[in-house]
Amino acid sequence: SGGVPGYPRPTIHTQQAYSPFDSFTSRWTRADARQIKARSSLTNPTGGNSLPARLTMPDIPADFPQTNPDVWIWDTWTLIDAQANQFSYNGWEVIFSLTADPNAGYTFDDRHVHARIGFFYRRAGIPASRRPRNGGWIYGGHLFPDGASAKVFGSTTLTESAEWSGSTRLVRAGDNHVTVFYTALGFNRTADGTNISPPVAIISKANGTIHSDLRHVWFSGFNDHKPLLQPDGVYYQTGQQNEFYSFRDPFTFEDPAHPGYTFMVFEGNTAGERGARDCTAADLGYRSGDPYAENLDDVLNSGATYQKANIGLAVALNKSLTKWRFLPPLISGNCVNDQTERPQVYIKDGKYYLFTISHRTTFAAGIDGPDGVYGFVGNGVRSDFKPMNWGSGLVLGNPTDLNQAAGSDFDPNPLQNPRAFQSYSHYVMPGGLVESFIDTVENRRGGALAPTVQINISGQDSAINLAYGQNGLGGYGDIPANRANIDLVAF
Ligand code: FRU
Repeated sequence: SGGVPGYPRPTIHTQQAYSPFDSFTSRWTRADARQIKARSSLTNPTGGNSLPARLTMPDIPADFPQTNPDVWIWDTWTLIDAQANQFSYNGWEVIFSLTADPNAGYTFDDRHVHARIGFFYRRAGIPASRRPRNGGWIYGGHLFPDGASAKVFGSTTLTESAEWSGSTRLVRAGDNHVTVFYTALGFNRTADGTNISPPVAIISKANGTIHSDLRHVWFSGFNDHKPLLQPDGVYYQTGQQNEFYSFRDPFTFEDPAHPGYTFMVFEGNTAGERGARDCTAADLGYRSGDPYAENLDDVLNSGATYQKANIGLAVALNKSLTKWRFLPPLISGNCVNDQTERPQVYIKDGKYYLFTISHRTTFAAGIDGPDGVYGFVGNGVRSDFKPMNWGSGLVLGNPTDLNQAAGSDFDPNPLQNPRAFQSYSHYVMPGGLVESFIDTVENRRGGALAPTVQINISGQDSAINLAYGQNGLGGYGDIPANRANIDLVAF
């Protein structure tokens, strides 16, 4: 590709596949991520959208419906198998969401330390046009018995504990066993939110069973929570190395190229002391002689060293998936971005896509991009991944004016697009459907399911499908199953 005048060329990534057990870690480089700004307009009206239209999520109306007025909901996932097919159960669609109580006296921005995994259900097989505007999800309550997830912390002193994101697996077709992989979070904080000790994040698992009758869906089990993984400080940063570390969001899958193994991707950070000046020329990724290359010392002096995300990989050592071993990260974003959240592996037409979500405010000094979905494509689970769309990594951003300061969802910049934080925590579903939750639209806070959109994925490129739904917006919380599971044991 020709490159953009005034900007560096992206790093050359071959997409070559390596063994999942190899030590090769692909890099999302500064040269790559600078392609986002290269493709952003400099002439849009202030507070408009500077991003390419085909990589922008359409505007969510400010009069969006609540999914349920009695519960805030954010990160949401489905009941999947090892290939990420989405299953209904005996004719019911089921979703799992982080939830918090809007009437408990804390704000939407303080919800994270109170997060509990909840579930919702609705009849399968009804088109969005014949459902209630809010998607018609019925709230089923908390998934786990009270106090069950906190047991993974043993006697550790905590002020709060929470259940953060993960994924839910149908153990096998034809019955009702499910396994939830999630992140148990333990906090030890003062009343004003300062850490007394670093948060404890434990990727954990609990087994349960799903049940239904003609009127509702419920779960049993989930009493016994198994801690699976805590960061090792070698590949994955620990709380001792950086109290602001990320270690969460497990997503398990099988790779048709390596049958017999169960793998997990998750959000991590590159191990080492917070801010260590160890980003390398390879993390910058400039081609030799590029006139727009940065000097490594300048980058190390810029503060960019505080941003070192990675997408981790682990492999199960037993059939009951209770023992796991870390493998080297699949991709790192050293001196590029601090958070590559809710990673997922998506296989299409023989290509392996790693999708992840990230924030404008977690990009490193000198790099810019919107809140939304980022994607990387290669020839295997571990590859020299090529960031999608001109080598940038951007797949689907909120409408954002990159020429104006970000502000934040809770303290907006009046010159910024009022939809720059409209939705987050996107998850790419079969058929390129993308679900997410509403954060802030024109200063109205959400905590509700966003309209589903569709992206067309083709090789290293993607584009929003504006023919889907109305001007590209499908139903609110339209999260359909693409497979039916009938419980043969229950009948
Ligand atoms: C993404 C996220 C996840 C985490 C959860 C906590 O929105 O940051 O990484 O599991 O939210 O609320």
